[in-house]
This record gives sequence, C-alpha cells and structure tokens, in this order.
Amino acid sequence: MTAPHRDFLNIRDFSRDELPLLFSLAERMRSGEYTARPLTGKALAMIFMKASTRTRVSFEVGAAQLGGTAHFLSPRDVQLGRGEPVPDTARVLARYVQGIMIRTFAHADIELLAATGDVPVINGLTDLSHPCQVLADVLTVRQHLGGYENAPVAWIGDGNNMANSWIEAAALLGFPLRLACPEGYEPDAGFLAYAMDAGADVQVVRDPREAVVGARVITTDVWASMGQEVEQAARVVAFADYQVNADLMSRAARDAIFLHCLPAHRGEEVSAEVIDGPQSRVWDEAENRLHIQKAIMAVLMGGEALR
Ligand code: CP
Ligand code: NVA
Repeated sequence: MTAPHRDFLNIRDFSRDELPLLFSLAERMRSGEYTARPLTGKALAMIFMKASTRTRVSFEVGAAQLGGTAHFLSPRDVQLGRGEPVPDTARVLARYVQGIMIRTFAHADIELLAATGDVPVINGLTDLSHPCQVLADVLTVRQHLGGYENAPVAWIGDGNNMANSWIEAAALLGFPLRLACPEGYEPDAGFLAYAMDAGADVQVVRDPREAVVGARVITTDVWASMGQEVEQAARVVAFADYQVNADLMSRAARDAIFLHCLPAHRGEEVSAEVIDGPQSRVWDEAENRLHIQKAIMAVLMGGEALR
C-alpha cells in the first residue's frame, strides 16, 4: 500500500502560501538557528543519469546535516543503466529508502517514478525543469534584495529547464519576468500557458536589451544543456547576441544582481567581468542549494511542518 507522501517534481508542488514558509525554513537552516535532525534513521537515494557537482554534494551533505544518509547511484553502477525499468527501480528503492532524488533526461520518467514509488520523489533536474535550483535562486534574491516582490527578473538566452522553472516561480510568487530568447529557443509552451492562466507578468521577447530594462535580477545559463552537446556549434551562432556582459548589465537597474546556476562558460553566455564582478551572487546562489534542499527534505521526508 502506498503511504501518503508528497513529491517535488515542479515548483507548483508547493502552494503560493507554502513557498514563503519554505524560504523562511531554509533561512533558519542557513543561519544555524535550525538544529533539528528530522532525517535521523532515514535515507535518500540519488539517481544521476547526468553529471552533477552541486546537486550531488548539496543533497549528500544536506541529508547528513539533517541526520540522514544519501546514496549516490549512477547508470554506470546501477541496473537502470542496463535497462531495468524505472518503475521496478522505484518499487525496490522504496523498500530501502525514505526519499528518491533523480536527475534525468525525460520529465516523463520522473513522473513515472513518482507514480510508482511509495516514497517522495525530488526533481534534481530534467530536460523540462530544475525546480531546486530556481528555488535556491529566489532564496538568493531574498537574501540580497530583501524580497522578490519588487525584483523584476530578466532571463537571457535558452528557453530551457531553468527558464521553465523561472516562469513557474514568477507565476507563483508574483514577480515580473522577461525572457529574451532567440527564435526557435523559446521556453516550454505548457509552462508559458500555466503562467498566462495564473495572470503572471511573464513575457518572451527577442532583444536582451529590452528584457533587462528595470530588471534587478539578470540571469542566464549555458547555451547547450546536458544532452545537447552535439548542437553546440549551431547554438554558438544562434546565441551570439545573448551574452550577459558589462554593457547589458549597465542597462539594468543600478542595484541589479547577476545569477547563474553553474557550471558557466565564461566568454559564451556570460563575460568573465560579470560573473567574477561585484554584481555577481553566484557563490551564494550555489550555497543556497544546500539550504533550500534541506528545507525540502525536512518537509517531504522528515515530517517538518511549514508554519
Ligand atoms: N546547478 C546545478 O545543478 O549544478 P550541477 O549540475 O553541478 O548539479
Ligand atoms: N540547463 C543546464 C543546467 C545545468 C545545471 C542543463 O540542463 O545542463
């Protein structure tokens, strides 16, 4: 029988009312005020069908800080890589662990995992979305701009998994979002429709200079995501005018911050002077992965209440 549990496949799995409470919990974890160990005796399985530095280490360390353990599973080592079906894997893992984090390609695979597993499933990135990262990003906006309500965001570049999760965040949290994407590289139509239905202030434009006017957060991502390496040459051409550099930053609000989920390619989507410059908050952003994911695990696996 399936025990009652909740998954985190996309940001909308938390309600508009819950998200600020989740950020507050993560902030108590960052400050050291939160000392509970709600994962004591519990285990998280981490399935990585793609590479990772931040996601792997922040979940591993976060689970340990909450009193639990985390178990790294890669296709080189586990039977998923030899074709064992996802639902079989989920059923077996649920007999050993109290949560599954997965990074994979097709979003449908994570939905299948969530539908068959008897434990919470957490999305550590799919081709469609990267919700843990964007919640860490919004946490960084709160940390540096005092809140997100009056912080218009400009997304520059590929309408990829990160862009989709930013659209969801804007729809749920109510900040304006302009995305500058080249033709043919727009965000997912379903996520855009979700934002439109929610009455969100989300707009896709072509010109990066138009997107950054008034923005207090400028963010971007690699031109070719994991799994798109063969498209790199074509993408370098398509995204040539979509670099976040000093000129573009100078057109945004004076107190604008720069975010990037990392890994970054200096000289492609961002110039070195921006990512390594005074407006960049990318290291705090990376740190915030740890705090927000601890908050997510505490709620989904540890019975922590959002209040
Ligand atoms: N930003 C991010 O998810 O980094 P990793 O690919 O290193 O996990
Ligand atoms: N869009 C990137 C994000 C990496 C964290 C990718 O999917 O590779």
